Amino acid sequence: MKHLIDLNDLSYNEIADLFTLAAKLKKQLKEGVEHHILKGKTLAMIFSKSSTRTRVSFEAGIYQLGGYPLFLSSSDIQLGRGETIHDTAKVLSHYVDGIMIRTFKHSDVLDLAKYGSIPVINGLTDLMHPCQILADLFTIYESKGRLKGLKLAYVGDGNNVANSLLHGCAKTGVDIYVATPEQYGCNPTIIEQARHAAEKSGSKVVITTDPEEAAKDADVIYTDTWISMGQEDEKELRVKTFMSYQVNEKLFSKAKKDAMFLHCLPAYRGLEVTESIIDGPNSNVFEEAENRLHVQKAIMATIMQ
Ligand code: CP
Ligand code: NVA
Repeated sequence: MKHLIDLNDLSYNEIADLFTLAAKLKKQLKEGVEHHILKGKTLAMIFSKSSTRTRVSFEAGIYQLGGYPLFLSSSDIQLGRGETIHDTAKVLSHYVDGIMIRTFKHSDVLDLAKYGSIPVINGLTDLMHPCQILADLFTIYESKGRLKGLKLAYVGDGNNVANSLLHGCAKTGVDIYVATPEQYGCNPTIIEQARHAAEKSGSKVVITTDPEEAAKDADVIYTDTWISMGQEDEKELRVKTFMSYQVNEKLFSKAKKDAMFLHCLPAYRGLEVTESIIDGPNSNVFEEAENRLHVQKAIMATIMQ
């Protein structure tokens, strides 16, 4: 594992190893045991979009590993004034030990890895959000004690989070049902990749427009905002289109009794999910957010040593 860009690049064993390390680092942190695995290493963090969780968990995480974060808002560096990804990659490779980037175009992340000589971590693109999904699967594993054979229902927009969930579930043997409106489906190439991975892991990939079909007997119900960063102009149309995809008590009652609710956050109560669900007894969204820290520390420790 050289970079963390796309979950489709990871094997089941690589994901399992990350989870073992994340669990160890989580325990060490809770017990106050120093774990300076990346002593003296620097992580550059390029952000072209807003962030709370990704920024703070990577920043705190690299400190806890004995290294240093460099927060680089793309509007403050020359990248925002038209310097190329090629030149940025070449230059940063001589200054720091790894780059985390959150941006719009997925190809920019691939180019950063192609032209640079240091590890690159995808902190979200329009196409994927792999660090989030690793933390989600880790959260499910911690709570349910297994992944293989579980059913996860993603209901809402077929966005970056849904795309990476397809990859992550198919790789780890979780049956994934994705329910979106017809015109807001997941990326077709990613659906194909997930189907291929699911054949190997023995899981199911089901694409539907029916939220109830997805939610029925699910172990996990997952949703995300209907308006991702960069889609603010489409808010009115999206809210109208997605209203029947809201995760509310009626939909949640179709799932198993002990079903878990997950959401990558930030959440918009009253839109994609009701308060009764996200703030209710089956919601694990804050454990999920916490696990971003532990899983990303495992990612950095694996690829930046
Ligand atoms: N879930 C997530 O990536 O949150 P942020 O946008 O706050 O980083
Ligand atoms: N789909 C959302 C995820 C935010 C963490 C977005 O891209 O804005």
